[in-house]
Amino acid sequence: MTSQIDARAATAAATAYLREHDAEHLAQLDEFLRMRSVSADSECADDVRRTAQWIVDELTRLEIDRPTLHETSHHPIVTGEWMGAGAEAPTVLVYCHYDVQPPDPLDEWIRPPFEPRHEEGRVYARGSGDDKGQLFMHLKAVEAWMRTAGSLPVNLRFFFEGDEEVGSEPIEQFIDEHPELLAADVCVVSDGDTFDDDGTPAIGYGLRGIAYWEVRVQGPRHDVHSGQYGGGVDNPANVLVRILASLTDESGRFTVPGFYDRVRDLSSEERAAYAALPFDEAAWADETGIPAAMDGEQGHSLLERLSARPTFDINGISGGYTGAGAKTIIPARATAKISTRLVPDQDYREIEQLVKRHIESLAPPSVQVEVHVVHGGAPAITPLDHPGVAPASRALEAGFGKAPLFQRSGGSVPVVAALDARLGLKTLMVGFANPTGNFHAPNEWISLRNLRDGMASLVHLWAELGMMHKDELRGDSQE
Ligand code: BES
Ligand code: MN
Ligand code: MN
Repeated sequence: MTSQIDARAATAAATAYLREHDAEHLAQLDEFLRMRSVSADSECADDVRRTAQWIVDELTRLEIDRPTLHETSHHPIVTGEWMGAGAEAPTVLVYCHYDVQPPDPLDEWIRPPFEPRHEEGRVYARGSGDDKGQLFMHLKAVEAWMRTAGSLPVNLRFFFEGDEEVGSEPIEQFIDEHPELLAADVCVVSDGDTFDDDGTPAIGYGLRGIAYWEVRVQGPRHDVHSGQYGGGVDNPANVLVRILASLTDESGRFTVPGFYDRVRDLSSEERAAYAALPFDEAAWADETGIPAAMDGEQGHSLLERLSARPTFDINGISGGYTGAGAKTIIPARATAKISTRLVPDQDYREIEQLVKRHIESLAPPSVQVEVHVVHGGAPAITPLDHPGVAPASRALEAGFGKAPLFQRSGGSVPVVAALDARLGLKTLMVGFANPTGNFHAPNEWISLRNLRDGMASLVHLWAELGMMHKDELRGDSQE
């Protein structure tokens, strides 16, 4: 534990360091963003590995102990640690992912996705927000402490993943095999967004889970003439859309029996907190480019539906002829990728089987229907009375000059629930991407303001947590 006066001077020196090295750091961020760490694309496997190695080299340069690139069943995991704050100080596990989403559709990018450009106070590039930019911020916050104080106020362990965007398949095994590399009093995940694009930071206290399937409908051996065979051969594309359409009602509510059984209703306190958030629905719809928000589930506000209620999506659907002009066929097959976002306490493994069996039961005997589970992840909640929340709030307020708001995110980060289930480790979610920064979309960006204020917040966060004894931070008591 450091004294408050020492901590204040040291924090000021570290944030000054960030300001002085701003241009150098932004150039280095470009270097990081230029690497094509697309986890979904097997042709990028070498680039993914090079990105992991870049992080290892950076940790080495920062005098982090045991920077290691671990082989997994898919892409590498990077770990390292700095335990110099002593046995009484908290140990924090820092998680971010260095893989990115595929950049397509490429022709919608104003500049190529892996050639970062700085315009309008933003850095545009794939991964600038999700999540390489945020991982980079952590590296620079550590650098600021190490180059000024020569030490950090807390012990840090790093856990950087290269498979988050494809479902984090290898992490559970990794957690089970290397608990000693991940042992900590609390985890800090930076893989979310601030409350708005006007510099209001946020502390995330929830994530949705996910279950994902591919549905294949097979009809005749090959495409057939729809005049010759129509009326006798069932059309796989017709069957597929009929099945998928039957899975939800007009409000988007799932019709599969048992789907809502474990959904935890929002408490009246939480609904009140949701209602109090300064969320502008019209501005949100306008920004998104839709004429209006969908009707959605009755009795739930838009913001609740965006983060605290389950959803169903067809992510892609294909089959038959979509080329020029008209072609009259009954296609041999049709396929769709579908997913649901899950909320506490839904169990993604249970839902995977529930939906699979339900779809299979809807298959008419005239076609073959196969349902394959693609990936899944559990939803997560961190109670707002966790002892790390107040210091994190102070750190964000110091970094952004505005107090954070508390939000649940609609997206999924499978590691958060996995760390809780396997190691009993709770997570503080401090995200720094911009909410309209085009995650997974063309022209992804992060604002320079979020980059700078976020890095400063992290410098403050380590100072804040460094003033606590590790036993104060565990937060096991409220379980
Ligand atoms: N960073 C996102 C999740 C997210 C989005 C958190 C918005 C907070 C706000 C993450 O990289 C992501 O995209 N996760 C996937 C997980 C899936 C592949 C298992 C997702 O949510 O689709
Ligand atoms: Mn992410
Ligand atoms: Mn993502």
